[in-house]
Amino acid sequence: MDFCLTDPPYLVNYRDRSGRSLAGDRVGDWLKPAFAEVHRLLKRDSVCVSFYGWTKVDEFVSAWRAVGFRLSGHLTFPKRYTSSSGLVRYQHESAFVLAKGSPRPPEYLLGDVIDWVYSTNQFHPTQKPVQVLMPLIESFCPVGGVVLDPFAGSASTLVAARLTGRRGLGCELEARMQSVANARLARMRQLMLHTLGVDAVSLAAAA
Ligand SMILES: C[S@@+](CC[C@H](N)C(=O)[O-])C[C@H]1O[C@@H](n2cnc3c(N)ncnc32)[C@H](O)[C@@H]1O
Repeated sequence: MDFCLTDPPYLVNYRDRSGRSLAGDRVGDWLKPAFAEVHRLLKRDSVCVSFYGWTKVDEFVSAWRAVGFRLSGHLTFPKRYTSSSGLVRYQHESAFVLAKGSPRPPEYLLGDVIDWVYSTNQFHPTQKPVQVLMPLIESFCPVGGVVLDPFAGSASTLVAARLTGRRGLGCELEARMQSVANARLARMRQLMLHTLGVDAVSLAAAA
């Protein structure tokens, strides 16, 4: 794998307004084994960007460090709306840039504050916007490379990989979400072929 871009459960027992919840969102016993596999699968001197839930930052950071990642950057995604509130209104998402070995800095350096776009959560209760994921892939994965997302949900990372000319490989625990992801990717493929003015049959004949 050339790059990992992932959005694991935040360990907050999340429920959206319509009662949708997430597998693996209560306890983080999977954190270390899952990220140990990510670390093993990544090429030498590569990057993993992982979203995380700030209430469990200690658990996330200690798991990442324990499996060999080095904290190499922190990304903040300010939102124009409030997702929920406590003593303050919660208006941003966060992710860490994790290094395996010593990756070379990308040709074009992204800033660590990146505008958020509302995803509509049409496909998944905590769906990430494809537009926000694309620059991360362009920055950290070579064209034609493989992007891994071990917590793929509705496949937003894989769609972003395809749109940026990379390949994607995802894992998703929930069978229902796997179907949503597969349907979304199939539709994506159709739209891309349509946009190119090529149908699958003539593409197959030409291949
Ligand atoms: C925060 S969501 C990812 C949403 C995704 N970014 C999207 O835009 O659709 C995390 C996903 O990880 C999945 N998950 C939880 N534990 C898992 C495991 N052990 N292996 C694979 N997927 C898992 C959940 O079912 C959930 O869909």
